[in-house]
Amino acid sequence: MTPAFYHVLHIVSLIVLTGGIFYGFAGSPDTRKKVLLITGIASIVQLVSGVGLLHKLGYGFPAWAIVKLVCWLALSALAGIGYRQRGRAGLFMLIVVAIVAVAVSAVYYRAF
Ligand code: HEM
Repeated sequence: MTPAFYHVLHIVSLIVLTGGIFYGFAGSPDTRKKVLLITGIASIVQLVSGVGLLHKLGYGFPAWAIVKLVCWLALSALAGIGYRQRGRAGLFMLIVVAIVAVAVSAVYYRAF
């Protein structure tokens, strides 16, 4: 598989994962199972494509990728939070945006 293929998988799965988390804040309770299934698959695809990119691009496992891995863990753990924490939707949406912002900054700045 080419790096471009992994890139496309990586970004599309990120959009699906983040979109699914946000959907959870408004979706009716009977959609929970399907949303958890979709975000679960997206989360795995994002990790596999990220590791694939590290390998294909010969990066080894730099510190910025470790930051991204922690962000991926946090984001994946938040899948479904919308169904459990409706009352604090604003706070958790902010947390999701902050996690994505840290991960995207890590890959663009590579400050460490
Ligand atoms: C919340 C988690 C994550 C977000 C928001 C995220 C976001 C992104 C974005 C936007 C890019 C495109 C950068 C570009 O091509 O200019 C990217 C590339 C990449 N990501 Fe992630 N990612 C996440 C998790 C991960 C994980 C867990 C890994 C590895 C274990 C990873 C490894 C990579 C690699 C190696 C690239 C390619 C960098 C390059 O083209 O030089 N990412 N990521």
